[in-house]
Amino acid sequence: MIIPMPTSCPPESNRPHASAAVLAELDAGLRADSAAISPKFLYDALGSRLFEAICELPEYYPTRTEASIFARHGHEMARAIGPGATLIDLGAGNCAKAASLFPLLHPIQYVAIDISADFLREAIERLQQRFSHIEMTGLGLDFSSALELPGIVRQEKRLFFYPGSSIGNFTPAQAGAFLRRARAQCDNDGGLLIGIDLVKDSATLEAAYDDALGVTAAFNLNLLRHVNHLAGADFDVRQWRHRGRYNSAESRIEMHLEAREPLRVRWHGGAREFAAGQRIHTENSYKYRESAAVGLLEQSGFQATRVWTDPAGWFAVIHARAIAS
Ligand code: AVI
Repeated sequence: MIIPMPTSCPPESNRPHASAAVLAELDAGLRADSAAISPKFLYDALGSRLFEAICELPEYYPTRTEASIFARHGHEMARAIGPGATLIDLGAGNCAKAASLFPLLHPIQYVAIDISADFLREAIERLQQRFSHIEMTGLGLDFSSALELPGIVRQEKRLFFYPGSSIGNFTPAQAGAFLRRARAQCDNDGGLLIGIDLVKDSATLEAAYDDALGVTAAFNLNLLRHVNHLAGADFDVRQWRHRGRYNSAESRIEMHLEAREPLRVRWHGGAREFAAGQRIHTENSYKYRESAAVGLLEQSGFQATRVWTDPAGWFAVIHARAIAS
């Protein structure tokens, strides 16, 4: 039997799957003179896997450089922080980075926060078996715009762990606001252990964000597939190309998607034409000088106690204490 579809019902593939707030955000970004889509939409299931693959690429130096700093200076970090912290992992993912520090840091409680609570549950179950003496909690939260920790999180010695230079995906103003929210969530005995990517030559930076295999291109283009799903849009990925360029005036890598040809895109509630070469801005990744990174922390309520870098000075891990209020 064939059941006729009511004419007002859009085909399944064009039906939006996002909340009204997300639809409004995507709609505003797509209509803007300089079109933009937030980098948070890079991370659907496939996008998260592509980001894991990026971290394995020879061109993408941040992950391995930061890991080498933790491996080389982990003991000094533990000495600066002291035992018994409430370790709060912002954007924990598979919890592997924080877990590698447990034997040195000896935290009392580990709180893993990530947008995807499902992912966390499995990782925490596994970790709890290895480190049964550490109290562990997973929280599924989008902490990028608000940070309010529930009562289950110990108040004493809160240490925010924010590795991977994720702070670089905020503008400096947003980064300051984010860090001030973290400061507001700890007492005077609180602190921060943060990884920040540093300014370096543009060839190294651009290779890291436009790799030879095209994994970063796939990561960026996949955002269009995600927007098709969320907003019922009809982006054809083949009509777009990835651009990753260093803007030295702004100290940031900019990722864009560029139309290969004149085209028209429709989404739930809107439509737009793009000329060949016209772009959608999808991500900024700010690079800091060490002094600017320390200054940003200070303006946000944290005083740096130690800065560790790799021998080439490409990446910094900073421990900072809450400035007494
Ligand atoms: C998650 N974030 C720190 C990465 C970065 O380097 O800005 C995201 C990324 N974008 C392209 N490659 C990696």
